[in-house]
Amino acid sequence: MSDGDLRPNSFWRERWEQNQISFHQAEVNPLLEQYWASLALDAESPVFVPLCGKSRDMHWLREQGHRVVGVELSPIACRDFFADAGMEPRLFDHGGFQVYEADGYRLLCGDLFALSAVDLEGVGAVFDRASLFAFPAERRRDYARAMGSLLPSGARTLLLTFEYESGTMTGPPFSVTEEEVIELYGGAFHVEQFAHAGGFPAEARFEARGLETIALAAYRLERR
Ligand SMILES: C[S@@+](CC[C@H](N)C(=O)[O-])C[C@H]1O[C@@H](n2cnc3c(N)ncnc32)[C@H](O)[C@@H]1O
Repeated sequence: MSDGDLRPNSFWRERWEQNQISFHQAEVNPLLEQYWASLALDAESPVFVPLCGKSRDMHWLREQGHRVVGVELSPIACRDFFADAGMEPRLFDHGGFQVYEADGYRLLCGDLFALSAVDLEGVGAVFDRASLFAFPAERRRDYARAMGSLLPSGARTLLLTFEYESGTMTGPPFSVTEEEVIELYGGAFHVEQFAHAGGFPAEARFEARGLETIALAAYRLERR
């Protein structure tokens, strides 16, 4: 799929149905552990995890004391997240989403672009790994705009991005530069890049798609 296409929701649902979820990490993301404290949050602040999949990062965030609100298209991901942890969520419909809820976790099964600010009321922070960079360029603009209108003033985001030379691999994940992050978020958010490191050998799954090295970056965004 080219960078200009809008990624249809069916693409992601099918990936879950076919268990093609190489983006899922068996371990907690090391950059989350390294940089989360830099957001200087109160443990009472609920954290929003957009495009959450069944990420283990949500368990780590819960262990820090945060309640976790995720949004995810695939019911398979939502179901497996709780099943893998031996939890039996309460299921109910709310505002067009199917909600899975247990023990401080609330996963909204449905489309992020159908959320309203009320769904994220009280959220103090966001963890974005493989959400912005899961989308092709045009959709990234919609996504950043949506985050600007959904998040309360003062909410902080830890945003992780990948950078690689254009013309090598076709996403996802898509390459997102610092210039683009500033362009997308600079109006509604204070943007600070606090880590950037390049020259990492690409994971085998990306190497097979023509990529040799990647750079990783971490940003702190604060909703104005
Ligand atoms: C690249 S994966 C990343 C998942 C997770 N953040 C992680 O680190 O494992 C992107 C996820 O977003 C979900 N997704 C894609 N588009 C979405 C949308 N519009 N609304 C909600 N979820 C979406 C997909 O089903 C998929 O699970």
